[in-house]
Amino acid sequence: MRKPLIAANWKMFKTPAEAIAFIHSFVPLIQSHRRTDVVLCPAMTSLAAAHTAVTDTHIHIGAQTMHWLDSGAYTGETSPPMVKALGCSHVLIGHSERRQYFNETDETVNLKLKAALAHHIIPIVCVGEQHAEREAGHTASVLKRQVAAALVGVAPNEAAPLVIAYEPVWAIGTGLTATPEIAEEAHKIIRTQVAASLNSAIAASTRILYGGSVKPENAASLCCLEDIDGALVGGASLDPHSFAQIILNSAP
Ligand code: PGA
Repeated sequence: MRKPLIAANWKMFKTPAEAIAFIHSFVPLIQSHRRTDVVLCPAMTSLAAAHTAVTDTHIHIGAQTMHWLDSGAYTGETSPPMVKALGCSHVLIGHSERRQYFNETDETVNLKLKAALAHHIIPIVCVGEQHAEREAGHTASVLKRQVAAALVGVAPNEAAPLVIAYEPVWAIGTGLTATPEIAEEAHKIIRTQVAASLNSAIAASTRILYGGSVKPENAASLCCLEDIDGALVGGASLDPHSFAQIILNSAP
């Protein structure tokens, strides 16, 4: 059985004080809910404050990206040991906005994934097709390429914590969502590729999240189907009530 995981991607929103205020309102709303792993991914500057604020709760903290090297002359970057020292147990890797605006490639996603596993940080690797790729009938080949490239050189016996997020780029921040059928089909393609790249036992235990305009109203139909093991939520995770409602609706 795969335990559902729901992660909040706060992108470039919330100062440390705002992150703390969110957590103080959010914690009581999901206090008795233990059926889902909950991860908050604040901006780098709010990680330390968020980590302190979730002390004595079951909420985990994740970074939105990191470099793959331990240290070096890379102005503006944050290394895996630094992310860990800030209290992160998880890290988002290869979000489509990083791929689109910050030169993230299949190769850097692979380097970051291997670094996360080496440092015992749970990687949430984001994949997903663009609108034109879907229209051209290339969804399956894009997903297979992204997953296969992310997993190059990953040893099956080290890959156990792997989480993948399927985020169709056309559904992010647009209000458009994949139908449950579209998402299920994509998740099956991803799981089959994980089995081909690693093995079927890892594929069966890998959690695959859906992301793209998840809201309280569609959480029940999108977050937890046979092959959908949770959600990565952007806009609707910025408000504590709406994010809590997504968690409660997805796994009642
Ligand atoms: P959205 O973002 O929920 O605002 O569509 C999802 C994401 O970018 O992870």
